Amino acid sequence: MTKKGRRVGILTGGGDCPGLNPAIRGAVIQAAALGYECLGLQEGWKGMLTGEHQVLAPADVAEIVGKGGTILGTSRTNPYKKENGVPAVLETFKRLGLDALIAMGGEDTLGVASKLHKEHKCAVVGVPKTMDNDLSATDFTFGFDTAATLAMEAAERLVDTGRSHRRIMVLEVMGRHAGWVALYTAMGAGADYVCLPERRVDVEDMARRLKEAHARKKVALVVASEALEMGETGMEEVDEFGHMILKKRGVAEKLAEIIEKKTGVETRSAVIGHMQRGGPPTMFDRILGTRVGVKAAQLAAEGKFGQMVALRGNEVVGVPLDKATGTLKTVTPEWLALADLVCTGCAAKAKALAPR
Ligand code: F6P
Repeated sequence: MTKKGRRVGILTGGGDCPGLNPAIRGAVIQAAALGYECLGLQEGWKGMLTGEHQVLAPADVAEIVGKGGTILGTSRTNPYKKENGVPAVLETFKRLGLDALIAMGGEDTLGVASKLHKEHKCAVVGVPKTMDNDLSATDFTFGFDTAATLAMEAAERLVDTGRSHRRIMVLEVMGRHAGWVALYTAMGAGADYVCLPERRVDVEDMARRLKEAHARKKVALVVASEALEMGETGMEEVDEFGHMILKKRGVAEKLAEIIEKKTGVETRSAVIGHMQRGGPPTMFDRILGTRVGVKAAQLAAEGKFGQMVALRGNEVVGVPLDKATGTLKTVTPEWLALADLVCTGCAAKAKALAPR
């Protein structure tokens, strides 16, 4: 049964990632097929504060499946941190005549959606997105595959130039406090050492293994997560609350300096940074984005509010939103063991340096 005259809003919040446009497209096409008009709110929750929006018909999204970024724009606006923010969101809901709102985002965006549903019975449905792949309620988030694939390709390029110059190369990747991007990049590019936030780096062990790899191949590659802790190097940088400062000085630069000193091999570093988040989504992210977008529109039409779409195995299902924002999904011991097996450098100290 169609629901003519009904409206569903869509917003994208937090850091962008490839796959958002396919998700918007999937949601719009499915919602239209169910008789809903779609309104795209501008720049995340900010759009629900100001009401700024655009009407999205299937024709408007027909050609965005292969486009990076988000056509709606994004921001890290939190209505709970703005004066009268929550009443403004509720007012926009009414004024725009929304029957449902699909919020696409990570922990923070979905956290707001969850709270609005719990406290105000807001008719929201969540779609998880993050290149960090750190949301525990879903097996994969779109954005991750593209970001890790781009980093893997960058790593291979570093190896080419590194081999010519007989250097050790260090690539720093994003991923925040979960090491998934670094882990997949390292495994995919056949790195010689991987440094993850889930365990301390043993500098002596790393230097020894890199020296061995370099002697064998005339090049060695290290992939490091941006949120790395440097263990007993005495080079940690923390803020006044004891939290690591991510960007005070780049992890790659710092690591390269240490490696060069310890190995005596000329070492260079590179940071892929936001290039990882741009460009066309991979096939995997296009399909996953499309599937979760379509499912979100179905959940909205069925009145299944307070739910988030999740990938479980190969099924796209609805799960409670509050579960989605509970715990951070970090690299497991099983994955560490696999990386230890295939990346020649990182094996020996895995147990001794287990997460604290
Ligand atoms: O959470 C996604 C992410 O790309 C992280 O990997 C990274 O640390 C962060 O966002 C960067 O945020 P911004 O785009 O605000 O600099």
